[in-house]
Amino acid sequence: MAAQEKTFYLETFGCQMNVHDSEKVVGTLISQGYRQVPTVQEAGLVLYNTCSIRDKAEQKVFHRLADYKKLQAQGKRFGVLGCVAQQEGEKIFERAPHVSLVCGSASYRNLPQMLAQLDAADQKLAHTGLSSDAASFSSAAPSLVPAISQGKSSTLVRITGLDDRETDKCFETEFTARTNPHRGYITIIEGCDKFCAYCVVPFTRGKERSRTSDSVLAEAREMANLGYTEIQLLGQNVNSYHDLAGKRTFAELLIAIAEVPGVRRVRFTTSHPRDFGKDIVEAIDSTPTLCDHVHLPVQSGSSRLLDAMQRLYNRDQYLERISWIKSARREISITTDVIVGFPGETEADFEETLSLLDEVGYDGVFAFKYSPRPNTPAIKLEDAIPDSEKSRRLAFLLEKQRAIQRARYQKHLGQHLEVMVEGKNEMRKQWVGRTSQNKTLNFTAPDGSDLESGGYVPVRVITVFPNSLLGEMVV
Ligand code: 5AD
Ligand code: SF4
Repeated sequence: MAAQEKTFYLETFGCQMNVHDSEKVVGTLISQGYRQVPTVQEAGLVLYNTCSIRDKAEQKVFHRLADYKKLQAQGKRFGVLGCVAQQEGEKIFERAPHVSLVCGSASYRNLPQMLAQLDAADQKLAHTGLSSDAASFSSAAPSLVPAISQGKSSTLVRITGLDDRETDKCFETEFTARTNPHRGYITIIEGCDKFCAYCVVPFTRGKERSRTSDSVLAEAREMANLGYTEIQLLGQNVNSYHDLAGKRTFAELLIAIAEVPGVRRVRFTTSHPRDFGKDIVEAIDSTPTLCDHVHLPVQSGSSRLLDAMQRLYNRDQYLERISWIKSARREISITTDVIVGFPGETEADFEETLSLLDEVGYDGVFAFKYSPRPNTPAIKLEDAIPDSEKSRRLAFLLEKQRAIQRARYQKHLGQHLEVMVEGKNEMRKQWVGRTSQNKTLNFTAPDGSDLESGGYVPVRVITVFPNSLLGEMVV
């Protein structure tokens, strides 16, 4: 009996969309009778959910596959899911011949059938269609089952209110194995129609498609009933959300979710500056459960480069949005993404990015060296800036941002902030919390305190670091 048990191991690379996709993939497999295990060695099926946003991310999966190649002799099967699968398709079989399953991010609905086919005969299967040409699946499973995600246990959550028609457009499954028992992700929009010159996402995730706001709201209500207090709305361009039923704008959807009884925090990521309206700021301002944080990737501070990147806004338009955010009554934390070394970026362009960091005063910057990606418009441009120069710009920018953050975080000194408890660092005897602004606030609590993960407690900030805060619980 035990020999026939179907087991799988899944490792996830990349963004929160991938993390959440993995929760859905895990749920799908468990509903098909598989058991998730925490190590490659224990698994019959080894899956990687991959990211191809930069070359380094893409290479990671091939390294992993090479590391475990010899385990194929033990009868293990290997599968590649996600963006690299979508991008490379059957070419993966040539590069890693021990892989037998390639399934792109728009094809997860096909996984049960693909796995059944693999069980029936030794073969190689690839599904990378970006259209929703797949049959949906259904099966019965208990609504709450323990699962494991990269070593952490998770809970299989059954959401029954999904609209069949939209499970056709997005990969929404009845079964999601949620790793975090308090913070629940909900994908509200998939894909991207923006085609920024450097970005592979429109090719790996396909056209933009939104769910209806009724369905999103139904899922949020079910999650709140199950005890989730923080909801994170996800989308490559979350604020390009367009309710086909025409019932709610993105800002109205934010407010509706924030008002669901039991929901204490709502976050959304990632926003595109072009579609970022004042109404989003007004919604945050008027609704305390909407977290006071906006992640608004700028990519460059130079209008010339923004044009070359096909970002659809210039520096002034970006700064106008920042001024809306700054004029809110609540202090809203702003974070961003930056690319250095895009083809043609001069020292003057780079300096404009540096001056933008000063002007905005970000609470966090994710900065990357430009990496040429297949299929993208920029692949035709010469990647002439040497890697050493990209590294120099990156290091300089991060150093500057560190100083900005060090100064900015000072304002929190002495403040009382509410945190959601995320766990405990036993070595340091500190609890780990997260503020509404998405900052890490580690804190001490009186001896013997047994704080529950997922609980909310007030903390007074006593020390600030460039990337985190330290405090003590207010009793
Ligand atoms: N090279 C470097 N960084 C990239 N990003 C997207 N594509 C590339 C690329 N080709 C960065 C952008 C984006 C973040 C998720 O990744 O800054 O906002
Ligand atoms: Fe990529 Fe641009 Fe779409 Fe963002 S908006 S996913 S950077 S193409």
